[in-house]
Amino acid sequence: MKTYKIALIKGDGIGPEIIDEATKVLDAVASCFDFDFKYEEVLMGGCAYDETGDPLPQETITAALNSDAVLFGAIGGEKWDNLPREKRPESGLLRFRKELGVYANLRPAVVYDELVNASSLKPEVVSGVDLMVVRELIGGIYFGEPKGRDENKGWNTMVYTKDEIVRIAHNAFNIAMERSKRVCSIDKANVLDVSQLWRETVEEVAKEYPDVELTHMYVDNAAMQLIRDPKQFDVMLTGNIFGDILSDEASMLSGSIGLLPSASVGAKIGVYEPIHGSAPDIAGQGIANPIATISSASMMLRYALGENEAADRIDAAVKRALKEGYRTQDLAQYDAKEVCSTSEMGSIIANYTAK
Ligand code: NAD
Ligand code: IPM
Ligand code: MN
Repeated sequence: MKTYKIALIKGDGIGPEIIDEATKVLDAVASCFDFDFKYEEVLMGGCAYDETGDPLPQETITAALNSDAVLFGAIGGEKWDNLPREKRPESGLLRFRKELGVYANLRPAVVYDELVNASSLKPEVVSGVDLMVVRELIGGIYFGEPKGRDENKGWNTMVYTKDEIVRIAHNAFNIAMERSKRVCSIDKANVLDVSQLWRETVEEVAKEYPDVELTHMYVDNAAMQLIRDPKQFDVMLTGNIFGDILSDEASMLSGSIGLLPSASVGAKIGVYEPIHGSAPDIAGQGIANPIATISSASMMLRYALGENEAADRIDAAVKRALKEGYRTQDLAQYDAKEVCSTSEMGSIIANYTAK
């Protein structure tokens, strides 16, 4: 029997609630196959700061590097918003991604047939949407120097080196080869020098993928097109901040941000995390949607552990729960047969996974 070592980072807010449901489902799927999981729970974010004075203790990095994969919930909350920047939960997360070297954040946005009515857009606009945001994760304006602030001025710098653009572009093209062979690269090349380099470099990399159709779009137009006609997109290749924003926008095609998973990859160890945050407004109430995290666990099985059949089982169980009309509160007004709590939804999906 194989044992996979998973570093588990629950984090803050709804983080612990949603991770508990993901491990429930992982244990259920393990019971169907010849493997199991050994979880090592470590701290990151506000809870880590409260415990150790550091939002990213060294122990967490070590545990991640000694694992087969990291499953992460979410961090952050008002309690820590006024700490010095480097002590903030968000800084811990950014440092974590950088330390691990996970430069490619894959954020699939799929509209389930069962939820076409759940989007704030018309069913005919969203039905059949299946796109992938490939977001550069450890560069751009999040990390560029100089950055800082004084009383009257604040500054950040958007920087990309050619090498950083080349490597994320390869990810996007390789993913497109497995999908509909279309990449739309999103930038602001009409205004930003960094975007001009981005566009030229993506063009160069595209020459190695003659079967993939490459288009470019300015980010402001892309934000509009995503709402106007999302089905025009297959792979959306973006820098760090544009991808952050566009993927939250894309989540509303599916009906709830509580549905969108992600994989942060590109290094030896990957981080599997929902795209949403710690949702302080609903934390502790048992109403968060655990599906984004459960689907992130499925991505972990697929990308990190090569357990595709197990991942398929989880994906099918999620679809079945939605088809049967089970809904957490975020989706309760749409074709719900039964409104369930976070843990009820986790148990239903775990049951369907095991059966
Ligand atoms: P958020 O994603 O936490 O919440 C936005 C809205 O979506 C809220 O109304 C929330 O209730 C809802 N929501 C989010 N996840 C949900 C789920 N699973 N089920 C149902 N509803 C859900 O974004 P925010 O409110 O802007 O940020 C809150 C905190 O989270 C901040 O501290 C922020 O920095 C942090 N954050 C962390 C991450 C992360 O850990 N990866 C990502 C985004 C934001
Ligand atoms: C995300 C979050 C993070 C980001 C924050 C919390 C640092 O919004 O994972 O999307 O901007 O990358
Ligand atoms: Mn975000």
